[in-house]
Amino acid sequence: MSRSEPLERPDRAWWKKAVVYQIYPRSFNDSDGDGVGDIPGIVEKVDYLDRLGVDVIWLCPVYDSPNHDNGYDIRDYRSILDEFGTMADWEELLEALHARGMRLIMDLVVNHTSSEHEWFRRSRRRDGNYEDYYHWKEGRPAVAADYETADGPDDEVAPNNWDSIFGGPAWSYDEERGQWYLHIFDPHQPDLNWRNPDVREDVTGEIEWWLEKGIDGFRMDAIDLLSKTEGLPDGDPDDALVGSEHYSHGPRLHEYLREIYDDTLSNYDVMTVGEMGMASVEAAADSIGADGDGLDMVFQFDHMNVDAGENGPWGRAEPGDWEVTELKAIVSRKQRRLEWDALFLSNHDVPRLVSRFGDDDRYRKESATLIATFLLTMRGTPYIYQGDEIGMTNADFRSREEIDDPQTLGTIDDLLEDGAIDSYEDVREFVNYRSRDHARTPMQWDGSPGAGFTDGEPWLKVNENRSRINVEAALADEASIWHYYRRLIELRDAEDALVYGEYALLCPDDEQLFAYTRTLEDERVLVVLNWSAEPATFEPATLEAAGFEVLIGNYGESPADPTDAELRPYEAVVYGLA
Ligand code: GLC
Repeated sequence: MSRSEPLERPDRAWWKKAVVYQIYPRSFNDSDGDGVGDIPGIVEKVDYLDRLGVDVIWLCPVYDSPNHDNGYDIRDYRSILDEFGTMADWEELLEALHARGMRLIMDLVVNHTSSEHEWFRRSRRRDGNYEDYYHWKEGRPAVAADYETADGPDDEVAPNNWDSIFGGPAWSYDEERGQWYLHIFDPHQPDLNWRNPDVREDVTGEIEWWLEKGIDGFRMDAIDLLSKTEGLPDGDPDDALVGSEHYSHGPRLHEYLREIYDDTLSNYDVMTVGEMGMASVEAAADSIGADGDGLDMVFQFDHMNVDAGENGPWGRAEPGDWEVTELKAIVSRKQRRLEWDALFLSNHDVPRLVSRFGDDDRYRKESATLIATFLLTMRGTPYIYQGDEIGMTNADFRSREEIDDPQTLGTIDDLLEDGAIDSYEDVREFVNYRSRDHARTPMQWDGSPGAGFTDGEPWLKVNENRSRINVEAALADEASIWHYYRRLIELRDAEDALVYGEYALLCPDDEQLFAYTRTLEDERVLVVLNWSAEPATFEPATLEAAGFEVLIGNYGESPADPTDAELRPYEAVVYGLA
């Protein structure tokens, strides 16, 4: 089938109505006291997830891995990491979810494998078919070295000037093969050579294997990086991430995605969400829908870069440096351009949403519930990241030793090497705002030292606020963030306008309020969010309504008519309009 033939896309597929909950298994629940979360630990919490009302679990990688990037470096696609349990445990999890009407999507990581994967081990010794499974190249003579390079033979530098997303060069020298290999991420994550049809066939086999086990779809990791510019030419040296114009959205990306769809996904009733860290809204729009590549939706990051500095997300932006008007403009553009959006403000790669987009101190509860209201009332499939339902916050990483994330460590080392900073202390505030580790601190189930996550020594520090912020306390308090999430999910379930309705922004220039309507035939819902720590007045120019019915609000009692009241700090209200 060629790409020009439209795909069949149902208007009301099950995943449009679904709310997804993301689990980072290492940090969710440890059942055996080794300090690392595991699959039996998740099974113990299936009723908890059911109570919250979520429909789909996205499980971050649980495959066998040497864990240089917490499972995103896969050694064997078909087995479960020992620390996490066994395949039988995984099967039990799938069964437990299905028994409660929930579904399971797996993380598909096929831009790269672990350097310990059998394909790479055979490739580095040029074993028959495997010789070209990865991007291997000769180095260049050292005289040409006008860019940073990794260690290799004295007279050689890397084949081109590309940067790794994790800091440092994107090439490493392999002694065994005597050549350089490409890794857009960590050196232990060599990129697969998708130009090789044997690679594509093998990957398809892995996908098919998991689909046959009865899963309900995939989150597709770094999927915009599969195709690279032919010949792997140098990138623009002035780019914040040198080479990225050649390794993201390459010329054959559509072809590869469509091939995956045609050969595997199209035969199953599953959902897919592609992670496209470098996609424009247009590129994301091109991958989905009837004229797309078979992806149902895309994690597109424009709104997540609203607080980025000039040099991208790791540029040294001042913490909190973003405007509500800007967020509204970005989000509204996505709502207009994308047939269906993946709604998210957090995941395992970014700081906690309440610390970043809200106020994790004085207005923690109000801002966490405001953000929840936003996520669950936009057009698209909402994603809740573990712990957001209790308003978990960023932690304080006091020293470099407390950090685990290779991206944070790589960036700190780059800054130290460039002389941009003298010590960790110079970058601590920024790490405390930005590091991926904030999302990875253990889930806070109760107030005990291990936060109810573990009886042992947790692999990453537990946030000191565990005694105040935890599931046990949240469940016991009907007015908690947790119960608000549960009610919002119920509301979204009941109001089709919140799922399928057209989105229209009101008051685009208001510097505090984010307000919009969702309209489905004669059903109309109004969402008013005061995204600020000051009171605000709602004065819509174009809203006509004969009456307002409060559907949900985050302040106990909500204003009966929002056009005739001041909204309190971080107040959020959803109205049915007559
Ligand atoms: C994605 C994952 C991230 C991982 C990277 C490499 O961005 O979300 O956690 O480090 O891909 O696999």
